[in-house]
Amino acid sequence: MHVYPCRFAVLVAFTSALAWGQDQAARAPKKPDPGAMFAGPDRVDPQVAERGKKIFVPACGFCHGADAAGKSAPDLIRSQLVLHDEGGSLIGPVIHDGRPDRGMPAFPALTKEQIADIGAFLRSRKQATSNRFGYVIQGLLTGDAKAGKAYFDGEGKCSTCHSPEGDLAGIASRYEPVDLQRRFLTPGTSMMDMFMGKKGNPLPPARVNMKLPGGETVAGTLVRADEFNVELRDEAGWHRSFPREGAQVEIHDPLSFHREQLARYSDTDMHNVLAYLETLK
Ligand code: HEC
Ligand code: HEC
Repeated sequence: MHVYPCRFAVLVAFTSALAWGQDQAARAPKKPDPGAMFAGPDRVDPQVAERGKKIFVPACGFCHGADAAGKSAPDLIRSQLVLHDEGGSLIGPVIHDGRPDRGMPAFPALTKEQIADIGAFLRSRKQATSNRFGYVIQGLLTGDAKAGKAYFDGEGKCSTCHSPEGDLAGIASRYEPVDLQRRFLTPGTSMMDMFMGKKGNPLPPARVNMKLPGGETVAGTLVRADEFNVELRDEAGWHRSFPREGAQVEIHDPLSFHREQLARYSDTDMHNVLAYLETLK
């Protein structure tokens, strides 16, 4: 399998994970909408809000709270900017460019559509808080730990790489739920961690094997690969770059399972796995 991580592998993993999350939401079966009964004319499409939520929780929840009600960063439910936003018109520039001097990071990789989905999610939160019959955001800890464990050992194949007594022992004491959720969905140090100066576990690097047109083989740690070139650090520690043309390239990325897994999770499995991981204190 060929993947093309660039120098900012974490960034790529993170943003493409967002895209996968969105695909997943688009494919998810329609759920009953308990808010519909009490809906006003400008009711938010719950499917769109759900897509926005999938982007918001891992990317923004850490600072703004998973329910957008504010944490280290301001409440976005009562924000005037969000209130008057239409399809991303006002929040778009803030999200795209950030306010780096004031602690709001830039998210230049989010598309207009993703930002509009986030806007819909924030509006749905506003409506949910002003209408107590409206649907309540699915709490982070609504899952069933037993079912999560069964998934971990079975269908999810998690136990083929991880162990609750080994690498994941005590993981729930190391991270709070929002962060833990983000880590099992998109492992490694996130943009937010870097921004907040937190060190996460470094991601295991991808390995590359190349057979050059002349027959010579080289192997090493992938530095970056694009359509034209492959850069690697060879066994002796040298940074080398080769044109891709005519060469055979094999890239093994230990995180490819996690990227593909993101599209396989149902919401229920995701909540159950989190509930299970939460028991590993
Ligand atoms: C590292 C923490 C952090 C993350 C992550 C973060 N924000 Fe923010 N955000 C902030 C801070 C701090 C502010 C307040 C900036 C200010 O005072 O102007 C802010 C402000 C905002 C505002 C402006 C609110 C207003 O009323 O002016 C919006 C909209 C916003 N953030 C959306 C998002 C979205 C959407 C995401 C995820 C894609 C996100 N933020 C991720 C810290 C964060
Ligand atoms: C093919 C191997 C593989 C499989 C299968 C796998 N993972 Fe991972 N996982 C990794 C790698 C590699 C990392 C990143 C390095 C690390 O954090 O250990 C990781 C990281 C994690 C982390 C973050 C650990 C931390 O300390 O930040 C969690 C939690 C996690 N995986 C949960 C799961 C769950 C739940 C499943 C099953 C749905 C799963 N993994 C399946 C390889 C795998």
